[in-house]
Amino acid sequence: MPSSLSTLTRALCAAIALLFVLAHPAAAQLSFKPTAESVHEDQLLNALKEGDKISGRISIPDVNAANLIQPAGRDWRDFQRSKLPIIGGVIIIGMFAALLIFLMVRGRIRIYHGFSGTKIVRFVSFERFTHWLTASCFIVLALSGLNISFGRALILPLFGPETFSTLSVYAKFCHNYLAFPFMLGLVIMFLIWIKDNIPGKLDLEWFKQGGGILTEGKHPPAKKFNAGQKGIFWTVILGGALMSVSGWFLLFPYLPANVTALQVWSVIHAVLAMLLIAAIMAHIYIGSIGMEGAFDAMGTGEVDLNWAKEHHSLWVEEEQAKGQAPSGSTPRAMPAE
Ligand code: HEM
Repeated sequence: MPSSLSTLTRALCAAIALLFVLAHPAAAQLSFKPTAESVHEDQLLNALKEGDKISGRISIPDVNAANLIQPAGRDWRDFQRSKLPIIGGVIIIGMFAALLIFLMVRGRIRIYHGFSGTKIVRFVSFERFTHWLTASCFIVLALSGLNISFGRALILPLFGPETFSTLSVYAKFCHNYLAFPFMLGLVIMFLIWIKDNIPGKLDLEWFKQGGGILTEGKHPPAKKFNAGQKGIFWTVILGGALMSVSGWFLLFPYLPANVTALQVWSVIHAVLAMLLIAAIMAHIYIGSIGMEGAFDAMGTGEVDLNWAKEHHSLWVEEEQAKGQAPSGSTPRAMPAE
């Protein structure tokens, strides 16, 4: 009797063990027992395939807390540590080098006919407020984000752990909170400028002529925004929207409730950030040192009439027809340097 009982007990244990293995497909595929003391972590990680994970049982509501090992995390860590610095470096340093070469080869784009001394209103104060709200938030978001990605490799060795940790605490704080006024700026920008940024036939012509960037004193006709500026507008609106959605998932990770989805959003957020930063570097260049007379548009809100005629001839005509712009100011002939 006792021997038949022990046989029954052994059979029952074996059945339970088999059930346990079958209920855990990841473990079933392994050629060793994951719970054995001798299991090495790297052996276990390498045996797991994409999508597998080793989970335990928990009694708290957060189901993600039950995951002990998630192999996709290795790829994500590898991306953050080795691929992102290369991608970011190539995009950002590449853009910086391209702008520097462009400045050296082309020089500053001058007002071909010189300053007329007559001004025309380009952006009213609400437009400028919206621009600078979005721009200042973007710049701080970009710098604090770059610190999250590369600060440990670049700033920590240069300034030491104390400075780096203090800086990072403030940077993270700014990064989390400035996302909101940035999103507000994006929405207002979209609403006030969408009507002037609908692509049209004129934009094709502008592209065909390369925006007149290389031809001295000859610019293709444009309305309020030329094709290049429309490109920046849509890059900022669409790129900013995607940055906001992906950033939102990173700020509130309980929404996707899935660690792999979170990792995908974090990769999208990081790569897009590098592309947007590079695009904005080009925008900042052309809006400041790259083009004479351009900054006034966002500085005082008024630009020189000759600048306006050279870069936005059709817009000047429209404004003059509405009686909202000074007319008759013929450009003085003054060759560019
Ligand atoms: C110091 C940095 C910046 C400078 C000097 C600057 C300068 C300018 C100027 C001068 C204009 C008016 C161009 C015109 O009269 O046609 C402009 C327009 C604009 N800016 Fe900026 N900007 C800066 C940063 C930013 C940032 C960070 C963003 C967005 C994230 C941004 C988005 C825009 C958009 C969407 C427009 C309208 C489209 C265009 O003109 O390209 N700007 N900016």
